[in-house]
Amino acid sequence: MSFKLTDEQLMVQSMVREFSRKVVAATAAERDKTKEFPADNLRQMGELGLMGMMIPFDYEGSDADTISYVLALSEIAYSCASTAVVMSVQNSIVCESIYRFGTEGHKEKFLKPLAAGEVIGAFALTEPTAGSDPVSQETTAERDGDHYVINGTKRFITSGQNSKIVIVTAKTDESQKHKGISAFIVEKETPGLIVGHVEDKMGLRASDTTDLIFENCRVPAQNLLGNEGDGFMISMSGLDGGRIGIAAQSIGVAQAALDAAIKYAKERQQFGQSISKFQGIRWTIADMATEIEAARQLVLSAAAMKDRGERYTAQASMAKLFASEMVNRITGKALQIHGGYGFTKDYPVERFYRDARVFTIYEGTSEIQRVVISNQILKDRRKPSGAAK
Ligand code: CAA
Repeated sequence: MSFKLTDEQLMVQSMVREFSRKVVAATAAERDKTKEFPADNLRQMGELGLMGMMIPFDYEGSDADTISYVLALSEIAYSCASTAVVMSVQNSIVCESIYRFGTEGHKEKFLKPLAAGEVIGAFALTEPTAGSDPVSQETTAERDGDHYVINGTKRFITSGQNSKIVIVTAKTDESQKHKGISAFIVEKETPGLIVGHVEDKMGLRASDTTDLIFENCRVPAQNLLGNEGDGFMISMSGLDGGRIGIAAQSIGVAQAALDAAIKYAKERQQFGQSISKFQGIRWTIADMATEIEAARQLVLSAAAMKDRGERYTAQASMAKLFASEMVNRITGKALQIHGGYGFTKDYPVERFYRDARVFTIYEGTSEIQRVVISNQILKDRRKPSGAAK
């Protein structure tokens, strides 16, 4: 299916493109050096309605569809992947999880400021010894009167330092495996919630990634998201949406790398002509553009399925798998086209190359996406042909 974007979707895309290339791009290279959190960008993005795009107006969101979200996120990533990952986590696994599973009280208290972009949110699932296998997590939440007491350490948490609201998963019943994991909304200033080690990363340097340590952290029982035991399901279904976001982010960075490579290839003269005249470069650029377009169609397809209310788990993982591996190939080729200059900080392509590296890792590695895709496909294939879905 090829996509014809609606006037509204095109309007969102062009509005965010203008904002991103004017405002977000201006400080991206500098923040990559200083690691300064893009708080200003994010505040303005909140005012533009980009921090809770798929949340209804009633809860301070923009009531946009997933396709518009994907277009907007790609445009932000084009200029700054660090800003884009914060936007992605906020929109998908934070805002959407509270919208889908939260009580009216959660929506009033937590979702509204998050969707308006007044505060930043984080989602804390991963632990030092539980990454691809979150069921083996060790954080516990014990009921104590009208509170839960949370103990444990979460690792690699996007916006761990700069967030004000954290969704955290913890075991409420060890014997129940994934059904014994619950999710809680925790306010950052809650005693016993400590920001631990801040990672010094290869890329996405302006987005903070930290440990979050819970030491007898008492959380009101009413902050339980969904029911006891829903935490794994909330995480997995939230990650379906999150993975569409990482795919969209990959497309934005890949497009930026391709555009930079084209500009350089046209300017660079060797052997008496612009290197863009050489077939080796032209075919590389053709392959790059083709791969980006293939990824874009996969992402739009997964987003459209989500918008139609269909199960899109496999398509989100396919989009994430293909797009995140694609952007690693594209940024590598873009750097190669730049030759020695690509290896310097004088050109943005080395930042794109570093930023893209984590896309095949976070929100589920490529290997995990293949597990998800094969599980879905083989499950479907077990049904006799023609059987009701
Ligand atoms: N939606 C809803 N429910 C789902 C689901 C989904 N997408 N996927 C699984 N479930 C449910 C299943 O239906 C099943 O429920 P029942 O028992 O009721 O039938 C249950 O969850 C268990 O499913 P599985 O048997 O498939 O679970 P598993 O233990 O085999 O794990 C996995 C599957 C795919 C490996 C999963 O553990 C996984 O995705 N791991 C990777 C985790 C990950 O992506 N971590 C990244 C963290 S976030 C991040 O990167 C940080 C950031 O801030 C950016």
